[in-house]
Amino acid sequence: MIPKYLDFTYQEGKSIHFAITGSIAFFKVLELIRNLIKRGSSVSCSLTKAAREFVTPLTFKALGCDPVQFDMFSLSETYSHLYPGVDPDIFVVAPATANIIAKIAHGIADDLVSTQLLAYNKKILVAPAMNPRMYNAPQTQKNIQTLKDMGIEIIFPETGDVACGEKGTGRLADILYIYFRILKAIIPQDMDGQKVLITMGPTREFFDPVRFWSNPSSGKMGAALAVAAWLRGAKVTCISGPTDVWLPNDIEVIDVVSAEQMFNETLSRWKDSNIGILCAAVCDFRPKNLHSQKLKKDSIKSSLIIEFEKNPDILAKLGNLKTTNQILIGFAAETDQNFKELAIEKIKRKNLDWIVANKINEREVGFGADTNEVVIIDKYGEIQPISKMSKSDVAWRILDLVNKK
Ligand code: C5P
Repeated sequence: MIPKYLDFTYQEGKSIHFAITGSIAFFKVLELIRNLIKRGSSVSCSLTKAAREFVTPLTFKALGCDPVQFDMFSLSETYSHLYPGVDPDIFVVAPATANIIAKIAHGIADDLVSTQLLAYNKKILVAPAMNPRMYNAPQTQKNIQTLKDMGIEIIFPETGDVACGEKGTGRLADILYIYFRILKAIIPQDMDGQKVLITMGPTREFFDPVRFWSNPSSGKMGAALAVAAWLRGAKVTCISGPTDVWLPNDIEVIDVVSAEQMFNETLSRWKDSNIGILCAAVCDFRPKNLHSQKLKKDSIKSSLIIEFEKNPDILAKLGNLKTTNQILIGFAAETDQNFKELAIEKIKRKNLDWIVANKINEREVGFGADTNEVVIIDKYGEIQPISKMSKSDVAWRILDLVNKK
């Protein structure tokens, strides 16, 4: 479920309480809980009576939830109705029915889950899932607004087909997105207020309508940086070449194809950004001529000769415009043995704060891989080697450095 390049480990040791209410969408939450437990979180849960019509408490016990509660008047747990109020770091209601949302909004405490919610005084996340007519009903909308006003975070449902066969808004949010919202809710927001601009992925330089020159960049390192910065509270904008990476909707993504488009889109947003991290593998050259028709194989006698011209250097341009309160980080994919020296020279020439240098001709490092091995070099030449680890961990460490500045 979780892409390896986005496998952050902050949830280790955290405790999360789930309330499951009566919706068929419960089955999606099982995988979410499984992934949290697998990554070292301790998960407890409570089920409403309606939820138990869909799924038994034993299912959650078998997944590793502890405790699993459903009875307010159990003799073995006299204070189960108060339990999450003291322990867990976060309380997640998923799926949340219109009924539980109404109860939270009005302080009704007439069963175990609603009583636990009333007694809990830390962060609550609510992920609604219901029929679109119920979701759009003015009562529900008003109740959701009340929850927001109380500081409860809503993970808004999606629009599309719902289980009852109708179409509209009310489908439980994407489970991967809910996973990351839980993570964001327990991670310190140490980049709150920062505006981060990231370039990522390859560029494509077409020379006829169906052929282009490019490189194998996957965008995974850029996605790891973008999600890490968003998880830590930053407002993130990505200028992305063609990639298949997953990003949450809260991150603004501007899709581009060529280096020239990337240059224009990045440049126009630099003035409003505090931090620029340019990790796109931009094609340094582009074919000088773009043929409007597909080049016919038979029209080429022996070899096809394409003349290239230089693309603009986005990083150098941003460095040139950089003000004293902006931070600029470049990436250097090198195959030379003296890649550190080359990187240091680049910091100076392009007016950077840091460069992240990686050797791309090693296994499981750089282009397309889920892991990376880099050295981070600052403008004073100080070198910090980062041993081989997931791109998510590399991203986290890069942002640690930025935050310390
Ligand atoms: O000089 P070099 O191309 O090796 O620098 C790599 C760094 O510069 C990367 O951060 C890359 O994103 C950026 N770059 C750029 N515009 C280019 C070429 C590279 O922003 N045309």
